Amino acid sequence: MEFKVHSTKSFEEIKTQALIIGVYQEQVLGVAAKAIDKASKNAITPLLEKEFKASLGSSLVLRNLEGVAAERIILIGLGKKDDYNAKAVLKAHESLAKLCNSLSLDEASNTLLLEPAKKLSTIESARFAARTLENAQYCYTATLGEEAKKEKDTPSLSTVTFITDGADDTAIEAAIAQGKAIAQGMALTRELGNLPGNIATPSYLGEQAKALAKEYTSLEVKVLEKKQIEALKMGSFLSVAAGSEQPPRFIVLHHKPKTADKSQAPIVFVGKGVTFDTGGISLKPGAGMDEMKWDMCGAATVLGLFKFISEVKLDREVVGLIAATENMPNGRATKPGDVVTSMSGQTIEILNTDAEGRLILCDALTYAERYEPAAVIDIATLTGACVIALGKINTGLFSNNKELGKALHKAGKASCDPAWPMPLDEEYQEQLKSEFADMQNIGGRDAGAVTAACFLARFTKKYPWAHLDIAGTAWDKSGSAKGSTGRPLPLLAQYLLDNK
Ligand code: BES
Ligand code: MN
Ligand code: ZN
Repeated sequence: MEFKVHSTKSFEEIKTQALIIGVYQEQVLGVAAKAIDKASKNAITPLLEKEFKASLGSSLVLRNLEGVAAERIILIGLGKKDDYNAKAVLKAHESLAKLCNSLSLDEASNTLLLEPAKKLSTIESARFAARTLENAQYCYTATLGEEAKKEKDTPSLSTVTFITDGADDTAIEAAIAQGKAIAQGMALTRELGNLPGNIATPSYLGEQAKALAKEYTSLEVKVLEKKQIEALKMGSFLSVAAGSEQPPRFIVLHHKPKTADKSQAPIVFVGKGVTFDTGGISLKPGAGMDEMKWDMCGAATVLGLFKFISEVKLDREVVGLIAATENMPNGRATKPGDVVTSMSGQTIEILNTDAEGRLILCDALTYAERYEPAAVIDIATLTGACVIALGKINTGLFSNNKELGKALHKAGKASCDPAWPMPLDEEYQEQLKSEFADMQNIGGRDAGAVTAACFLARFTKKYPWAHLDIAGTAWDKSGSAKGSTGRPLPLLAQYLLDNK
């Protein structure tokens, strides 16, 4: 989508397919709505009694208003004026994108940035608006037949002009570019997540990383194959890959801008890339197993994040690590009771082969040590227990470092992509004690999301670390936007913008 910025106060003179104006509940007109109402000799005011209540996200289309140059006026309900906050900005833009697409419009002029939102600068509003509009253009068609592809309405909206008062246009343009880059990253994350397991294999993820490096010269990518992973002694990671015909990949992405402050250590992101999780020999039940194609959403988030980083030319060194494999049962597969040696040298008794995410992440987290990082953040669809604890609203947030935990919590709030702090008390470590190895890979029914994080904590002692359990937030099989959500990319992008 192309975004433009235009400053004017003569709203009635704007030539456009649709002029988007905001109306609040309780019959309060927004800035532009007031002007249009006046120019059209009060075409709008009488509608507010019954026809248009202006609840958040509602809309009404008016055509050919006298005294108004726009072909259409689109009223968007902004809800109560006192409640018009960041979430409301998101919702209003979501609904306006949907409406424009359903009307097959390719262009619109949007005055909503003129509406002050609670605790939000116009610049932040612009970032939200661009992110939401761009994200609304994502549409999965990759594996549909030709007929179905044609039938599926590809979103039409291709240009949006933001109307401003001209005060902060340079900053607004920069924020729009950031918002757009966030959504471009999310589109990649969502697409990779939605692709089926027979297409999005570990080697496919490797190819995608290489394709990114071709597109952006600031990005360097290495894709390690099984022999190289063996040479690194990633015995835990390889134990998960053992039962699969698809070879594993270990992907290293490196964004190293020449201008970055050399004294600043890099931030490392680690993604769980289980391209399909059958559970292995501890096989999962059949019902709903298809959902485990999304078990690589952590990896997809890392790739999407590097798209964002590359687009905005982030002035900070960032490393991405992806451990990619299937978790399958075959004659060579790891068995319950097997003991493996991780790259760190610590041994692990594998009591359940379905707790495989931690087994691949622990070796990636040890690999991360070589960067002497300022922070390491892993992203993983790690536990069903996290979905029980937090549902699909909050990502689970664990950290061994107060400052990092706080910064991520704040970034989640600020980006409307929330994560909730979870505990890592030493006492939980008891549950991972093994008779036959340094630890076992499961900690029983109690506090499943916490014991999984506690397992990872044993491999992250050398740096500030945070773990995002996105089992509940990375995809949604119900709801309107079925499939990958692109979360927690907005949270991580916000964190990077705040901490560059
Ligand atoms: N990929 C799953 C976690 C998961 C489950 C994500 C459901 C989203 C929805 C993970 O590999 C897994 O199987 N975890 C087990 C751990 C258990 C065996 C300790 C789980 O959550 O049941
Ligand atoms: Mn599993
Ligand atoms: Zn899994």
